[in-house]
Amino acid sequence: MKLFSRKKEPVMGIDISASAIKLIELTHSKKGYELKAIANVPLPRDAIVENTVIDSIAVSQALLDALEQAQTSTRNVALAVSGNAVIIKVIQVPTATEFELESQIEFEADQHVPFDIEDVYLDFQILGETEEDPEHMDVVLVACKREIIDDYQLVLSEAGLQTTCVDCSVFALENAVEETGVFTQDTTAVDAAEAMDTEVDESAAYALINIGANIININIMRDGQMAFVRDQFYGGQNLTEAIQKAHAISFSAAEKMKKENFSDIDPNVIEEFFSNLSSEIGRSLDFYGANNAEYPVQKLLLSGGCALIPDIDVELDQRLGIEAKVLNPFDNITVSPKKFDAEEIKAMGPMLMVPVGLAMRGFDS
Ligand SMILES: Nc1ncnc2c1ncn2[C@@H]1O[C@H](COP(=O)(O)OP(=O)(O)OP(=O)(O)O)[C@@H](O)[C@H]1O
Ligand SMILES: [Mg+2]
Repeated sequence: MKLFSRKKEPVMGIDISASAIKLIELTHSKKGYELKAIANVPLPRDAIVENTVIDSIAVSQALLDALEQAQTSTRNVALAVSGNAVIIKVIQVPTATEFELESQIEFEADQHVPFDIEDVYLDFQILGETEEDPEHMDVVLVACKREIIDDYQLVLSEAGLQTTCVDCSVFALENAVEETGVFTQDTTAVDAAEAMDTEVDESAAYALINIGANIININIMRDGQMAFVRDQFYGGQNLTEAIQKAHAISFSAAEKMKKENFSDIDPNVIEEFFSNLSSEIGRSLDFYGANNAEYPVQKLLLSGGCALIPDIDVELDQRLGIEAKVLNPFDNITVSPKKFDAEEIKAMGPMLMVPVGLAMRGFDS
């Protein structure tokens, strides 16, 4: 099986992650995207750890609940993987056609993937000629441990579903942002350039940052191309655990406090969370900056459940010195108020960026 399907078949996006199973189905017409089906079913803590299915019974049950809620019209699924089991690298290989590279990729990957090549699924995408080296080309190489994908597929097939596309969270994130157009570098760059009466800055880079329960997915884009990707282990669960400790309450009470009474949380706990979060993100920005000093990151575009934390954009802006903005895919997706609680869906929009990006894999773009 290939990691990415290149066939365009209708799919629903299913994001199975630490805190929940999130399902989205969309339709696409001249008027744009419209929500067709949605479900967000919480998972018990530790049912999924580091992207590995630990409690398959709980995950299967949540999946059946999600399918019942959503009543989708397809059985095809686009799924996302992330975390340590996924390696994404831009590598340089001797210039070849896609067909030629197909038979070479295992050999090339062997030098770049820290796992036994037999144990991974591989995929690649040719980016183009390597700068100042016409004999080589840049290729995005993706490798994911087979057991991770096989486990997910088993759970999905037991629920009568067919996995037609396996994606990486960082790519789904990019797809959601590009397809919905909730952020376009060009218009902002052009607006800014016009306002200042200067040339459009083509070297601008921006960072898509999806902050979940355990994982931060980072994808830094430059000139419409992926320049840096990383999954880091930190997230909302760290904050929940700190609240639990400081206030001597249960995990679920701490989750509730976070979502409903954020201002009651001990300010020291919040300070520590923002401090850790910004240094985690700062590490990736530094890493990127070391090789891309001439293309500084000009915007942090936030999504994931933690993007719902009050003033997270202001905090990260102040701490990292880069303008931050929370993205909501439902700014550009129609949600019929006759069929759905449109306000509630819009309110949790930033948390649905990855499943939205997956759901869009079924359409020609
Ligand atoms: N309104 C809110 N205010 C603050 N935090 C929230 C809010 N809603 C959700 N969260 C937090 O966001 C996190 C869940 O985010 P998300 O759904 O993006 O993570 P996930 O995809 O399940 O996890 P991961 O990607 O790390 O595997 C949880 O820690 C949750 O407590
Ligand atoms: Mg997630």
